Amino acid sequence: MDTRRDVTTRSAAERRRRQLLPVVVLGGGLALAGCSAGAPSTLDPAGSGAGRVANLWWLLFWISMAVFAEVMAVLAWALLVRRRRDVRVRHGQPLRFVTVAGAGIPLVILVTVYAVGLRDLAALGDDPGPRAPTIEVTGHKWWWEVRVQGVDGATANELHIPVGEKVRVRLRTADVLHSFWVPQLMPKTDLIAGEVRETWLHAERAGNYRAQCAEYCGTQHAHMAFRVVAEPRHDYDAWVARLAAPAPAPQTDAQRRGQEAFLQGSCAGCHAIRGTAANGRIGPDLSDVGSRWSIGAGAVPNDGGHLGGWIANSQTVKPGNYMPPQPVDASRLPDLIAYLQSLR
Ligand code: CUA
Repeated sequence: MDTRRDVTTRSAAERRRRQLLPVVVLGGGLALAGCSAGAPSTLDPAGSGAGRVANLWWLLFWISMAVFAEVMAVLAWALLVRRRRDVRVRHGQPLRFVTVAGAGIPLVILVTVYAVGLRDLAALGDDPGPRAPTIEVTGHKWWWEVRVQGVDGATANELHIPVGEKVRVRLRTADVLHSFWVPQLMPKTDLIAGEVRETWLHAERAGNYRAQCAEYCGTQHAHMAFRVVAEPRHDYDAWVARLAAPAPAPQTDAQRRGQEAFLQGSCAGCHAIRGTAANGRIGPDLSDVGSRWSIGAGAVPNDGGHLGGWIANSQTVKPGNYMPPQPVDASRLPDLIAYLQSLR
């Protein structure tokens, strides 16, 4: 009776295990696929800073694999060979084995990893030199203010660097802790209240690198993304020149009406547009808002529909952000959108 119940329970457990196997395999596969679905990875470095971190990671990975293989081999020997055959252990052999495998090898590994880690830490903390351009980044809840040292204008949530050159990034926070992290270019640097911290960026190939605040800083921490654009030197110089120049003047009637609405409404109290009377400093400078990759630091794509939604009530898009709903006349919204989109 008992035996039968045992058999029944065992076969039920076996069935459950069989049913679970595809779920585990599929789930694991999907989870791994999720890791590479467009998310920037430190293990896909595009510059010398992240390259060092990736190399260190792979060094640790292969050491771990070697240690794992060694332990498995010793275990297999103990279970399969030593148990079956009467292997005679010579006097002093166990002690020698413990000394080499338990102390000697770990010591070599730890000293090597420590030395490589110290070397990389020193290299990552190096100053990029007096000729390197300096970009000043200020973290705000929940967006990034970007300026180039010596240039008057500002932009937000996007910074440009010349390919192949080291660029110094000077970091401040306007409020709480944030962390500046460009996974494919450089490890994190925390922004600490009252302190000015520095890091550098270097990209070996041109491209757009997605980056993210990496320190929890409140409700919209997840929507505090930014983008690093690595481009040839002349494009970088053109970007700096655009930052210094006034925003483009409106060209069409709709854009002119939009500018009027912007300057007469409450927008100008918080936002600046270079070359106009708008010089608010609470929210992001909007002089090049039409060319930005997103609205709300990665919250939604930058297109007319989302821009209209953001202006009318950004609280529905990014709850908790500091821009209150705007009492904009619906008939003026298309003009406002037309004007802001022309700022590029
Ligand atoms: Cu800023 Cu998290």
